Amino acid sequence: MSANKKLLFLPGDGIGPEVMDQVRRVIDGMAKTRSVNFDITDGLVGGACYDKHGCAVTDETMSDAMNVDAVVLGAVGGPKWDNVERQHRPEAGLLRLRKDMDLYANLRPAIVFDSLLDASTLKPEIVQGLDILILRELTAGVYFGEPRGIETLPDGTRRGLDTQVYTEAEIDRIVRLSFELAAKRDSRVTSVEKANVMESGVFWRQVATNVHKDYPAIALSHMYADNCAMQLVRNPKQFDVIVTDNLFGDILSDCAAMLTGSLGMLPSASLGEADESGRRRAMYEPVHGSAPDIAGQAKANPLATILSFAMCLRYSFDMKEDAEVLERAVENVLNAGLRTADIMSPGMTQVTTDGMGKAVVTELDKLAG
Ligand code: IPM
Ligand code: MG
Repeated sequence: MSANKKLLFLPGDGIGPEVMDQVRRVIDGMAKTRSVNFDITDGLVGGACYDKHGCAVTDETMSDAMNVDAVVLGAVGGPKWDNVERQHRPEAGLLRLRKDMDLYANLRPAIVFDSLLDASTLKPEIVQGLDILILRELTAGVYFGEPRGIETLPDGTRRGLDTQVYTEAEIDRIVRLSFELAAKRDSRVTSVEKANVMESGVFWRQVATNVHKDYPAIALSHMYADNCAMQLVRNPKQFDVIVTDNLFGDILSDCAAMLTGSLGMLPSASLGEADESGRRRAMYEPVHGSAPDIAGQAKANPLATILSFAMCLRYSFDMKEDAEVLERAVENVLNAGLRTADIMSPGMTQVTTDGMGKAVVTELDKLAG
């Protein structure tokens, strides 16, 4: 494989920089064993950017993000910035990246590794072998809908409002992608909304049903969001791909994440539309947050970020084999009993953030061997 694959690294806050360092280690390892090279540019996002520039992401970083092949992000936020005005809060940097890069599709796989079966709070038989994909719409809905705000009415009372709004095109493209992703999996899609209460939910269901006509080989079912939350903890293996809006996707993906018992394990990819050559803007990040309480203590689990990089190899660079090798390396390290503090259990060997990164690279060497 040739060079000139351009990455923008945005480590962000809290444990973000620590876990991102382990991705650098993996990339160095791959350069040696598999002759795969990446050009990495570094940038600031979140509180780290606010401290230096007074905003959560700069225009310069945004233009870098537009021009690389993929962005890899650590995490943003922390109590230090709790009192910053909302438009400059760390989360605003993340939301601007999503919106301005038009990363409408957020893929959040929830996979239970056999060796981590005990980490789940659910009974092993409920989650063993779980492999579901939550596809969350990421650039519309109540996160961005107008009007929004806190306002004072003529009678002097106040109210807060947000707007849930979806255009046909916005629903069409995310549902279409869910069918395309399902075709490579178990060919089942559950479309989730609240059509029993919300007009936008009725509309979502209509559009999903229409798009489905183009994908007769995929089984489509519809489910209300509250029922979906319940079904996820009752019998999660009934699902293959769940496609849903921005807010329901935020909530249901946290729920799905916890089925695996270890938020420190879950990767994500956020993708834009494909151009004529099939290239998509893309950002990869762990689902976990910045965990300020353990930052700087070498306790953070770097596997979610390393697995996010595996998604990057797969979706941005079409390097399916390298992605699989990296995922296998992670699985082997877990099978060998290595654990960071968050997934530690009796009889296992506890390692630091660095220790885990090094073990993955050693395993990569072996697999290349
Ligand atoms: C997520 C997070 C973000 C969201 C926050 C940090 C803005 O919870 O990626 O799920 O709500 O989308
Ligand atoms: Mg969330």
